[in-house]
Amino acid sequence: MSNTTVIFLTGVTGYLGSRLLVQLSNLPVKIYCLVRPARSENGAQGRLLKILEDNNITPEEGKYIAVEGDIRKDKLGISDEKYLSLSREVEVVFHSAASVNFLSTKEALKSINVVGAINVMNFAQRCYANNQSFDKFCLVSTAYVAGKTSGVAEEIPVTKARVFNNNYEESKWLAEQRVVEEVDDLPYVVIRPSIIIGSAIDGRAESQNVIYGPFRIMIQYDNKKPQWLPGYKSTRLDFVPVDYVAECCRHIIFEKDPKPIYHLTSGPDNQAGMNNMFKSVSDVFSVTVKLYPYWLFDMFIKPFLKLRKNKDDLKFLRIADAYGNYMKYKTQFDDRNTAELRYKNGIVRPSWNDVFTKSIRYAKDTNFARDV
Ligand SMILES: NC(=O)c1ccc[n+]([C@@H]2O[C@H](COP(=O)([O-])OP(=O)(O)OC[C@H]3O[C@@H](n4cnc5c(N)ncnc54)[C@H](OP(=O)(O)O)[C@@H]3O)[C@@H](O)[C@H]2O)c1
Repeated sequence: MSNTTVIFLTGVTGYLGSRLLVQLSNLPVKIYCLVRPARSENGAQGRLLKILEDNNITPEEGKYIAVEGDIRKDKLGISDEKYLSLSREVEVVFHSAASVNFLSTKEALKSINVVGAINVMNFAQRCYANNQSFDKFCLVSTAYVAGKTSGVAEEIPVTKARVFNNNYEESKWLAEQRVVEEVDDLPYVVIRPSIIIGSAIDGRAESQNVIYGPFRIMIQYDNKKPQWLPGYKSTRLDFVPVDYVAECCRHIIFEKDPKPIYHLTSGPDNQAGMNNMFKSVSDVFSVTVKLYPYWLFDMFIKPFLKLRKNKDDLKFLRIADAYGNYMKYKTQFDDRNTAELRYKNGIVRPSWNDVFTKSIRYAKDTNFARDV
């Protein structure tokens, strides 16, 4: 790589991508950011400037350059001329853009998460062919490509389809599969975070899609007290703070001899138990959240709610279909590759418990980030 590393980044207007920009902001880099112009009068550049401003990043001249595009489109919707000139300059392609909407249809998720990943990989192939200093293609996936694996999921390719907890997991697995199949000799790294929660410093999290949905179910459904939810005490979930994930991503970008797969997870000994999670939510929101066994939900309550056809019940069932399986999840994630990365670079992984409580507090104080 050259002295000023040239990075092509997708997903910068998102939760993780914006934090990665913060991580990169003090380094000698030039970053091309693929941004959709949507919902902004000032187009892609305007959206990028807003992200820089929101994250207190000085918009240094020539350091952050918006490239208007869409990962669903052939050549990312970039003109032939621009595509070619970028491919001669870019040294690292980091692909974070995706749909993390668990309630989306299979088709919508496939067009963004699978087709999008292939289009970005094709761009990386082009850079590899056109630029001798091209270093690597990084694909952000999810630890939950493990699906309903029992035991420990390792940092290796998931070669066979699993039973997945929702369409999102399946789409991310398909993306990994296609990339591994078609990558040829392109140097690549797959990065698999688990469930990304707020910042380890103050719990800040803007993402509406991943963590706040389940928090809302815990506190709002039916507005009854105590709030009963289906699940098991033995459930274990894996949470990681966004700044930890972004810091690891930064080091992976510059890693000279990276491993092919990194689990950015809380680690087998540091997972969240249901009781602790419910206690944090109960304490912060002053509600009582209690568990009843999931089999009772599957066998009796779900069919009953379906029959009752109440609008709120049906909404709850739709959310339960997408998220409910996590209420009985126990898979742990081996993270030996990441442990090595942490050791080499002095990265500290905070304990999930403290960050989880901070994230819930932030959600409460900001009305789930709507009031910021
Ligand atoms: N959040 C989690 O808990 C979690 C956990 C594990 C893995 N991951 C993975 O981490 C990555 C980042 O997730 P996130 O939480 O940061 O998601 P996010 O906040 O929803 O951000 C998604 C980003 O993707 C962009 N995007 C979506 N569709 C696009 C398209 N067609 N063309 C170009 N850009 C598009 C969005 O741009 P717009 O602003 O234009 O919509 C946004 O910048 C994803 O790959 C996700 O699968 C996330």
